[in-house]
Amino acid sequence: MEDEGRIRIAADADLVLARQKGRRLAAAMGFSGTDATLIATAISELARNILAYAGVGEIELARIHENSRDGIVVVALDSGPGIADLEAAMQEGFSTAGGLGMGLPGARRLVDEFDIVSEVGKGTTVTLRKWRAFAA
Ligand SMILES: Nc1ncnc2c1ncn2[C@@H]1O[C@H](COP(=O)(O)OP(=O)(O)OP(=O)(O)O)[C@@H](O)[C@H]1O
Ligand SMILES: [Mg+2]
Repeated sequence: MEDEGRIRIAADADLVLARQKGRRLAAAMGFSGTDATLIATAISELARNILAYAGVGEIELARIHENSRDGIVVVALDSGPGIADLEAAMQEGFSTAGGLGMGLPGARRLVDEFDIVSEVGKGTTVTLRKWRAFAA
C-alpha cells in the first residue's frame, strides 16, 4: 500500500480539499470520471461526518496493488464520540442529528469494500476500497 497523503479535516474547506485530492488520485490511477466522482462523493460523506460528530479527524488516501489489480483506499478516522449502534447507523434513514441518514449507507454503496470500526468514547475509523475496472 502506497501512502498518497493525509488531509486533516477540521473545517468545510478541508472537506473540499479531501474531495479534490481523492478525485485527482482516482483520475491519475486511471479510474473513469464516473468512478472518480463516486470516490469523491464517498470521501465527502465521511469527511462531513467527521466534522459533524467528531469535529476533527483525518482522511488518508492510498493506492493498493493486489492480485494484479489496482485499487484506491480511503481511511477516515477520528477520535470523536464513536457510534453506539453500528448496525443502526448503517441503515438508511438512521440519524442522531436530524439528518437524512444517508451518508454511511450511501458511501457503502459507492465502493467495493466498506469497513467500519467504532468504539464509544474512542472514535471511528471507516475504510473504503474501490478497485479499478479492467479496460474493456
Ligand atoms: N464519525 C462519526 N462519529 C460519531 N458518530 C458518527 C460518525 N459518523 C456517523 N455517525 C453516526 O451515524 C449516524 C448515521 O450517519 P450518516 O452519515 O449515515 O447519517 P447522518 O450524518 O445522520 O445524515 P446525512 O449524512 O444523511 O446528512 C449519524 O447520525 C451519527 O449518529
Ligand atoms: Mg452523514
